[in-house]
Amino acid sequence: MSEPIIVGVDGSRSALAAVLWAADDAARHTRDLRIVHVAAPLVHGGRPYERALDDAVREEGERMLAEAAALAAASRKTVQVSTELLYGDTTEVLRAQAADAAAVVVGSRGVDGFAGLLLGSVGLGLAGHVAGPVVVVHGAPTIVQGEVVAGFNPDDAVHPALDYAFEEAGSRGARVRVVHAWDAPATRLGQETIAEVVRERVRDLLEPWTTRHPGVKVIVSVARGNPIAALCEASARADLVVVGSRGRGVIRSAVLGSVSHGVLHYASCPVAVVRPPLRAG
Ligand SMILES: Nc1ncnc2c1ncn2[C@@H]1O[C@H](COP(=O)(O)OP(=O)(O)OP(=O)(O)O)[C@@H](O)[C@H]1O
Ligand SMILES: [Mg+2]
Repeated sequence: MSEPIIVGVDGSRSALAAVLWAADDAARHTRDLRIVHVAAPLVHGGRPYERALDDAVREEGERMLAEAAALAAASRKTVQVSTELLYGDTTEVLRAQAADAAAVVVGSRGVDGFAGLLLGSVGLGLAGHVAGPVVVVHGAPTIVQGEVVAGFNPDDAVHPALDYAFEEAGSRGARVRVVHAWDAPATRLGQETIAEVVRERVRDLLEPWTTRHPGVKVIVSVARGNPIAALCEASARADLVVVGSRGRGVIRSAVLGSVSHGVLHYASCPVAVVRPPLRAG
């Protein structure tokens, strides 16, 4: 059987937005949807709490899962939905779940944190830490834009974001906008001339993906400037922004490059961070 899409829920509105996104994705790719809630085991001073309290935690978890499953089933009737109540540390449990998933989907925020927090610990603890796509859903779904944005750096050795962006665009009948921005001081050469050279290089490098996905229209956007700003600006008119977990520029131990980190926080549409199965570089 093909790998399921996994979505984590914690009773927050943000998590329900993630459920709708995940149900839609599962429907488009004919995959099953597994909805997971992770409950913290109730211990105090190393000893488990009373049974009655544990039962209350389980009941609350089951209520959240039932609410999420009903929402998923109502929004996408063809999708097979299952639920799972697990115990432990949320990020650790979801990381383990990711091993047999096509994608892991979470909300940008949950029930904890403070009012102005842009990204909770779960999204941050998953993105770049697990192989494959981690999708962080910001807010409720808005009108369909028909565009998937892919962040692209020609200097990177591998481009896992492009595979996912083209697959997602293909399944949505959407176009792909490949965005490359470079943060360098202005030179005496005309910016237009440089942009034209960079655009040609990007187009050449995209050939394997355009050949594999002939039905997907591609737009190349190149400009001098900050890549986070360029991607976040493009996110305002996109259904999804896809970035790799890290490029070449970051220190080897970093799990998330600065661009991916920034886009995860500030994009105004769902963000997929894709880590290749085997670390390059
Ligand atoms: N216990 C949980 N079980 C399953 N998924 C969860 C759980 N907690 C959070 N999530 C998922 O992670 C998303 C983000 O929640 P997260 O906990 O990271 O943010 P927060 O609660 O705002 O802040 P904090 O990091 O302080 O907890 C949720 O929308 C949900 O998809
Ligand atoms: Mg939380």
